[in-house]
Amino acid sequence: MKKSYWIKRKGKKGEIIWREGRAQGLEGAKGRIGDISKQIEEILKKKKKIKILEIGAGFGRALLELKRNFKDKVEVFGTNFESEWNQKLTKEYALDQQFSNNEIPKIYSRIDAGKKLQFKNNSFDFVFCQATMQYISDRALFIEEVNGILTKQGIVVLELQEYRSDHPKEYENLIEIWNDGKRIDFLKYLKKFKNIQVKKSKGRDWHYLILKKTSNLRLGLKLVHVIELENDIYSGWWGKKLIYVKK
Ligand SMILES: C[S@@+](CC[C@H](N)C(=O)[O-])C[C@H]1O[C@@H](n2cnc3c(N)ncnc32)[C@H](O)[C@@H]1O
Repeated sequence: MKKSYWIKRKGKKGEIIWREGRAQGLEGAKGRIGDISKQIEEILKKKKKIKILEIGAGFGRALLELKRNFKDKVEVFGTNFESEWNQKLTKEYALDQQFSNNEIPKIYSRIDAGKKLQFKNNSFDFVFCQATMQYISDRALFIEEVNGILTKQGIVVLELQEYRSDHPKEYENLIEIWNDGKRIDFLKYLKKFKNIQVKKSKGRDWHYLILKKTSNLRLGLKLVHVIELENDIYSGWWGKKLIYVKK
C-alpha cells in the first residue's frame, strides 16, 4: 500500500511546521552533494545569467536560497513527482519562510524522472538532485536525459541514493549491473565515463556524481527489474532497487 506523507502541521503557537525531509536546503545539500554554490559560481564566470533546475525539489528551499544568494544572475526551476507538491505549496512555504515573491522558483509537478524528461535539450546550466534518486526507476536513463538538457558549459550534481544504518545490507546498493552472469560494480562502471566524477558524500556511506555535458551520453545499460522496496517489501524502507544488464 502506498504511504501518504504529511506535508505541514500546526505547532503549539499556531506556527506551521513544515516536513523537514522536503526542505533540506543548501545546508542539507553540503553533506550530500558538496557545496553547489561553488559549482554555480564557476559557471557564472563563463556566463552572465544561468538557469538552474532541481529534480525532486520538495518545497523548493534550496532553490529559494540560491535565488536569494545569486539574485538576477539565476533563474530557478524545480520538479516534483506528486501533484500536491506543486507551485501553490511552494509559494505558501516561501512566503511563510520570509522569502519574497520574486524568489519563488517555477515548480513543475507530476514529473517522473525515470522517463524521458519533458525539457528541451540544452536548456539548463546547472541541474542538481538531492534525496531523490532512490525513487527514480530508470536511473541510467535519467543520467543520460539530464546530460541532454544541459547547456554546453553545464554541470549536473546528483546524489545517488541514501539509506539509514538500520536498513538491511541488501538496501545499501540500490543499483546492480550484471553481464554474462557476473556482477559489475555500478560506481566502477560509471568511472569509465570521462565526463562523470564519482564522489563520496561527506560523513555518509553513499556517493554523488558530478557530470559535465558531453555530446551524446549512452551508459549502455538496460533496465530489467525494479523492486519497490517501500510498497512491495516493507513500509519502513523507501525507494527502488534496480537491476540492469549491460547492453
Ligand atoms: C525526500 S524529497 C527531497 C526533497 C528535496 N530535494 C530536499 O532535499 O529537501 C524526495 C523528492 O523526490 C521526488 N520524487 C519522487 N519520485 C520521483 C520520481 N519518480 N521522479 C522524480 N522525482 C521523484 C519527490 O517529488 C520529492 O521532491
